[in-house]
Amino acid sequence: MRSFVVSVVSISLVASAVFAHSGVKNEDVMKRMKQMSEMASNMKVLGAMMKQQQPFDLPLAKAAISKIGELSAETGKSFATKAEDPKSEAKPIIWDEFDEFTKLADALTKDALQLQSSLKGPEDLRNVMATLGGACKQCHSKYRE
Ligand code: HEC
Repeated sequence: MRSFVVSVVSISLVASAVFAHSGVKNEDVMKRMKQMSEMASNMKVLGAMMKQQQPFDLPLAKAAISKIGELSAETGKSFATKAEDPKSEAKPIIWDEFDEFTKLADALTKDALQLQSSLKGPEDLRNVMATLGGACKQCHSKYRE
């Protein structure tokens, strides 16, 4: 039953991600949007465990944090080209201050690495969510419409 619930949740996440990307024509924009959505689905797993909507699972939680770190490590590369699309929410200022932008991504990678190695139990998840969520917000408030 439990795995049934989990798979229904992940199917609906995938479906909504596909829906959000419909109409995006530029391939680079599509790719970076998908990477961002994957960050969000890993955050959702951690959030669900924090709210006890999903049982705490240490390896799964560590894997979600690691995945977020991997995705943010790729952010510099996936935004390296100034790709544009009417559906994109990326602010053009990203490419005027690309060093600042990649610094925020690198900070998230570093936080993720540290948090995944120090994670011990469900009581740590609040701090994980706050730290990672803060890093997402810091970049979005500056560089996303
Ligand atoms: C270094 C900057 C940066 C960081 C860090 C960052 N994002 Fe983003 N994010 C962006 C930008 C820029 C966009 C807009 C991309 C576009 O529309 O072309 C975006 C878009 C998104 C989107 C919308 C994707 C879509 O389908 O349109 C989601 C969801 C998202 N980010 C989640 C996250 C989460 C969750 C985190 C943290 C775990 C995070 N982001 C960290 C810069 C960042």
